Amino acid sequence: MKGLILSGGRGTRLRPITYTGAKQLVPVANKPVLFYAIEALAAAGIHEIGIIVGDTAAEVRRAVGDGSRWGVQISYIPQETPAGLAHAVHVARPFLADDPFIMYLGDNLIRDSLTPLVESFRREPADAWILLSRVPHPEQFGVAVFDEQGRVQRLIEKPAVPPSDYALVGVYLFSPAIHQAVAAIRPSPRGELEITDAIQWLIDTGRSVRPQVITGWWKDTGKKDDMLEANRIILDDLVADVAGTVEGACELAGRISLAPTAIIRNSTVRGPVIIGEGAVIEDAYIGPYTAIGDRVVVRQSEIEHSIVLDGAQILDIGGRLEDSLIGRDVLVRRGQSKPHSFKLMLGDHSQIELI
Ligand code: TTP
Repeated sequence: MKGLILSGGRGTRLRPITYTGAKQLVPVANKPVLFYAIEALAAAGIHEIGIIVGDTAAEVRRAVGDGSRWGVQISYIPQETPAGLAHAVHVARPFLADDPFIMYLGDNLIRDSLTPLVESFRREPADAWILLSRVPHPEQFGVAVFDEQGRVQRLIEKPAVPPSDYALVGVYLFSPAIHQAVAAIRPSPRGELEITDAIQWLIDTGRSVRPQVITGWWKDTGKKDDMLEANRIILDDLVADVAGTVEGACELAGRISLAPTAIIRNSTVRGPVIIGEGAVIEDAYIGPYTAIGDRVVVRQSEIEHSIVLDGAQILDIGGRLEDSLIGRDVLVRRGQSKPHSFKLMLGDHSQIELI
């Protein structure tokens, strides 16, 4: 059985972060989202993994390498345009050959181990096993409808009036029959080859499509607030490890992971918080559920429930940042010059909330 991770796409919902980088490489608890997917597949005994890459191919290759660090073999599969999840299966056909495979959306995070699922699929092969999770807002997802026998009858993409609250999770298991389905479907009104249409084709042609409801949490990190929630969930299991330097008058509470070359000086840090290599926290407050990347500087400022990417600087702002996703090498600081006004240089699609 092979693995197929989708790490192309447009990433429009996470702009401007995705103008300069792959959303699958945005860190959750200081580890790229994509790495969680590779780890999950490796742990389930899947060693041949293809990664679909788009415009951010070079960056993904640089970050992931050949997979040897996870004991897997990675092949990169370029997708010229992000023409849909089923299109990604189509371009991966030479890699997949006629093997069954597990498809994992590279911006998704799933708590449950994939091992029991992969074992069940091996024991009772079907043409597709789809994972479902009950969600509070099914209208934002692909939704499954069941018949009286509990079989999947229909899949509907983002229904205005959801017929059920079972949403499709970003992990699927397929037999090679999916290739026939992908060849048979046409682009949807939004111009994409939809995986839901391909699975619907399997259902309509009498193939076996099994639902599997997962109970652990699952997050699609395609939007900022989902990313922050994923960060919160992962940090909930953080193991405390203060390897770095703590100096001056500091108050440290809760679980904190401080990288060996990071420094906390005259500051209050309340975990769970993770702080990366070379970061400097000075005269500052870092509150719960914050992930601070490598070489970040936070000085005379407060931040909580946020993700700060490598090299960013938050200086002298006095007030507190919350619920924020701060990109690489971003500078946020209090200006000294008069008049005292907000002075911004923001990339396209940036979002700021002022008080
Ligand atoms: P989505 O999040 O559904 O799509 P997107 O990445 O284009 O994002 P947005 O809606 O914000 O514009 O994609 C799910 C995953 O699949 C994600 O990791 C990107 C990947 N993907 C591909 O690799 N190829 C594709 O053609 C598409 C549509 C997505």
